[in-house]
Amino acid sequence: MMARGRSFSSGFLATWLLLCAALLLAGCSKGYGNGWDWERMRKQKRADPFGATPVFPDGKVLQTPPAGTVPTDAIIGNTALTEGMNEGVVVRAVPVRVDSALLADGAERFGIFCTPCHGDRGVGGGTVGVNLAPYAPPALVSPMVAGTPVGALYRVVTQGGARMPAFAAQLDVRQRWAVVAYLESLQAPPPAVGVDSADVGKVGGNP
Ligand code: HEC
Repeated sequence: MMARGRSFSSGFLATWLLLCAALLLAGCSKGYGNGWDWERMRKQKRADPFGATPVFPDGKVLQTPPAGTVPTDAIIGNTALTEGMNEGVVVRAVPVRVDSALLADGAERFGIFCTPCHGDRGVGGGTVGVNLAPYAPPALVSPMVAGTPVGALYRVVTQGGARMPAFAAQLDVRQRWAVVAYLESLQAPPPAVGVDSADVGKVGGNP
């Protein structure tokens, strides 16, 4: 009984599947382009971004945003963060939390954007930099940079310099501070490693 019942239901299912497939195939062969105006969807009037249009007074498709338009991701009212200046004075402390994640991001961005000119870890001699001679960019591990407030360094990265490009377009606010924090970390003298005062006498094989 059980076996018959099962074979009946699977046969029933197979019939249904065949019927559905037949209907679908019929749908493919007949329905396409029949009664439906597909061309109307394929060929629509459209405005190309840099094209002309009679819709706007200036005749351009791309419209200049109204004066005072603010980007959705704009940081407002925190000039220390966005400009490196507070009430006209450059800030002397990095206004974001400096942790290992920020420094790692800064090291990565520095490697991509700064190393070509200022060299690995800012020691100078970057491949692009040496080819800019006689205007080769300075090394960034220097008393000059170490003595510069972080706000001023941030402004250099943001706005560029006489021959240095601006990075406001490539690096967002946080990334620029990350680069500055990393640059600061490069100025610190490297910690003395592995030499214990008790070992000093042994260097060079002295007893
Ligand atoms: C195309 C080459 C180039 C790149 C890339 C570049 N710089 Fe510079 N940078 C210069 C030059 C050239 C100067 C010298 C001042 C000038 O001409 O603007 C300079 C100056 C500086 C100074 C001032 C140094 C001083 O002693 O006053 C800082 C700080 C600095 N760069 C940081 C950076 C950082 C950080 C990056 C990466 C985000 C970077 N630069 C990328 C070319 C470059």
